[in-house]
Amino acid sequence: MNTIIEPFRIKSVEPIRQTTSEEREIYLEKAGYNLFLIDARNILIDLLTDSGTNAMSTEQWAAMMRGDESYAGSESFFRMERVVRDLTGLKHVIPTHQGRAAERILFTVLCRKGHVVPNNTHFDTTRANIEFTGARAVDLPIAGAADTQARLDFKGNMDVAALERLIESEGAQNIPLVMLTVTNNSGGGQPVSMENIAAVKRVTTQHGIPFYLDACRFAENAWFIGQREAGFAGFTPKQIAQKMFSYADGCTFSAKKDAFANIGGLLCTNDDRVAVLETNLLILTEGFPTYGGLAGRDLEAIAVGLEEVLHPDYLRYRIASTGYLGRHIADHGVPIVEPPGGHAIYIDAARMLPQVPKHQFPAQALAVELYRHAGIRSVEIGSVMFGAHAQHELLRLAIPRRVYTQSHIDYVVEAILEVNQQRDRIRGLAIESEPPSLRHFSARFRRL
Ligand code: F0G
Repeated sequence: MNTIIEPFRIKSVEPIRQTTSEEREIYLEKAGYNLFLIDARNILIDLLTDSGTNAMSTEQWAAMMRGDESYAGSESFFRMERVVRDLTGLKHVIPTHQGRAAERILFTVLCRKGHVVPNNTHFDTTRANIEFTGARAVDLPIAGAADTQARLDFKGNMDVAALERLIESEGAQNIPLVMLTVTNNSGGGQPVSMENIAAVKRVTTQHGIPFYLDACRFAENAWFIGQREAGFAGFTPKQIAQKMFSYADGCTFSAKKDAFANIGGLLCTNDDRVAVLETNLLILTEGFPTYGGLAGRDLEAIAVGLEEVLHPDYLRYRIASTGYLGRHIADHGVPIVEPPGGHAIYIDAARMLPQVPKHQFPAQALAVELYRHAGIRSVEIGSVMFGAHAQHELLRLAIPRRVYTQSHIDYVVEAILEVNQQRDRIRGLAIESEPPSLRHFSARFRRL
């Protein structure tokens, strides 16, 4: 059977609102052509992010009623900690209110001016939090990632030879940690192979550098390994995920992705000394170590979500559904980052809109047009987000977990194909105002 069916039925529904393209034209103007500044009630299908937008299960909602809201020593924390330790094998489990809080604490403890932090590709908040400490964030994707059309099984991998050269030139003492983002979000939601994880671990061990996973989408990455990497066919996603984590000395994690939660994050480490410094900072700004900025009920939702996300029926559907969107637009001429990734499809806007130069933000212009045409919100991952660090001009269509049905996806396909037919008419944008960092969240544009 080829029909993709959602491996769940729907018990509670949330209406979404139709608007006209004339209305959306007004909303766009008011928002300075920045989709972050459009009210969610004016969006029909929201593919801005897969972060915190998950639909929770009956089991998660049930667990939330069990939330122990004790300030210290909450039973919900210990339940969550058991699940995380079983999955990651990591010794210290520090809850945070979301992924970037874990990043801020980690980098504040480990990084300073003169340091360099390599990653396959840093995500926006990761890069910004590293730079905020005065350290430098360096992306080391494999060469194949430069070609959006290359169909590589593990296009999210790090260039291990480049990592060795970087350690040589910077000195191991100036590299406080090496990170791998699984899956590689800024690089197209592409997976990282177990072989690459092991190779990075070998290099870091050789130089005495801690190795961290940015594990936001660990389950999707594990599924790809099971499907594509030799030697993993018979393993469960959980076994594969456990093996991925077994190489890591620590991890940051946003529970807003592969834990099916709406909020939450984790910082884990095997280093006792680092854990003490991190916990001290945690208490200062997030909260006591058994809640870290979260309610007990959030910890319960995370504990259940971390187990549900590894269910093969879910992961099979998840990756098939994303792939369906990708194939159906790509096979009709829309250039996407090939092959389709895990949580999102990325349109190569520079390729789709050759008339719009990079400095006129082709992916932002495409995001605006897709919203104007069909009420679909997506996000630019290109020069607006990363400035000179952008490798590509991508429009990301991120799919919230368990939220939209196959017919929603069909609507998105139809809308994109219609926009593609009129792509010659799309013009670029100019920035009117921008904040000093993470400008994509609040910059305002005008149409050219
Ligand atoms: N690392 C990666 C790879 C991410 O994709 C994100 C968030 C974070 C860290 C930070 O986690 O949001 O909980 O603070 N990515 C979201 C996105 C926002 O849309 O891709 P957070």
